[in-house]
Amino acid sequence: MTSSEESVARAEACANIALAKYWGKSPRGDNLTAVPSLSLTLDSLRTRTEVRFQSSLRSDEARLDGRALTGRPLERIVALLDRVRAASGETRRALVTTSNDFPTAAGLASSASGFAALALAASHAARTGWDRARLSALARQSSASAARSLYGGFVALAAEAASATPVAPIDHWDLTMLVAVVTAGPKPIGSTGGMVHTAETSPLYGAWVADAPRLYDEVQRAVLARDFPLLAQAMEQSSLTMHATMFAARPPVIYLRGATLDLIERLRQWRDEGLPLAFTMDAGPNVKVLTPSEHADALATRLADVPGVGSVLRCRPGPAARLLALDGPLEEAIPLPESEALP
Ligand code: DP6
Repeated sequence: MTSSEESVARAEACANIALAKYWGKSPRGDNLTAVPSLSLTLDSLRTRTEVRFQSSLRSDEARLDGRALTGRPLERIVALLDRVRAASGETRRALVTTSNDFPTAAGLASSASGFAALALAASHAARTGWDRARLSALARQSSASAARSLYGGFVALAAEAASATPVAPIDHWDLTMLVAVVTAGPKPIGSTGGMVHTAETSPLYGAWVADAPRLYDEVQRAVLARDFPLLAQAMEQSSLTMHATMFAARPPVIYLRGATLDLIERLRQWRDEGLPLAFTMDAGPNVKVLTPSEHADALATRLADVPGVGSVLRCRPGPAARLLALDGPLEEAIPLPESEALP
């Protein structure tokens, strides 16, 4: 909706979990990544965001799940809005209203879905006409993992690439990602600070940057060939090498907890007993376990019984970020133009 007083758009984006991890920024700046990454977009972790440029507002305002944002979270939103304003000629301030359909308290990554939905809604409200690649680049400047959430299914972000690119569509491989939420206190350090500190102080950082492209290639090959054993090996090595690099920082960056390691031990036992699975951890203690969907029920039941596991969220491959209708229920989607109909 556009009038001289206001211009509004709504968008929805899903979170993604990297199978080949990004950890480290390129010396070229602009939040470009030092290593390539490859992720799976997940259907049941969604963020919905409305951006309302209004002539009556004196400054940008943002609410997440009903609470007003201040400080660094608000600054990151304003920085994205400023980029959109600078490129589009939009001069009004915006009211940003956003909600996650997954428990924020569970410590799951919300910056990927959050900045992807914000990039799409803000650009549309400012009538930029940007294509998906341009939107992915805008999201990446705020949070590199968000670049991947513009696309559905399996998605790559090459080292130092402006935008993510689709690797395989949502229906390419019938996998389920079970997120085992390991209850823990607040994060020791955010991912941006954690990776900068790792690059500056970990003697293993150079080895990580040198090996990450090989891990990425292996993950990509496994995904394209639907080779689950190869995927399991490569994605676990990517996550564990990333965490080993952080462990060697001074002081160390330790996101994993005792419950995380106990769970990994059990997962490896279950795999030895014949249950196909692959685990990965990000900047937090939760363990994300990937399995062919026919094994998801058995795995979810076992996970729920593990001491230290608070809850288990079940996710399937998810769709690309999309615009939502303004009138009527938020669920009613407006399809993007045909040329945009990527996975
Ligand atoms: C461990 O995208 O949150 O989840 O670009 O500084 O915002 P910034 O970092 P962010 O880092 C994600 C790191 C990761 C791995 C990954 O998603 O590739």
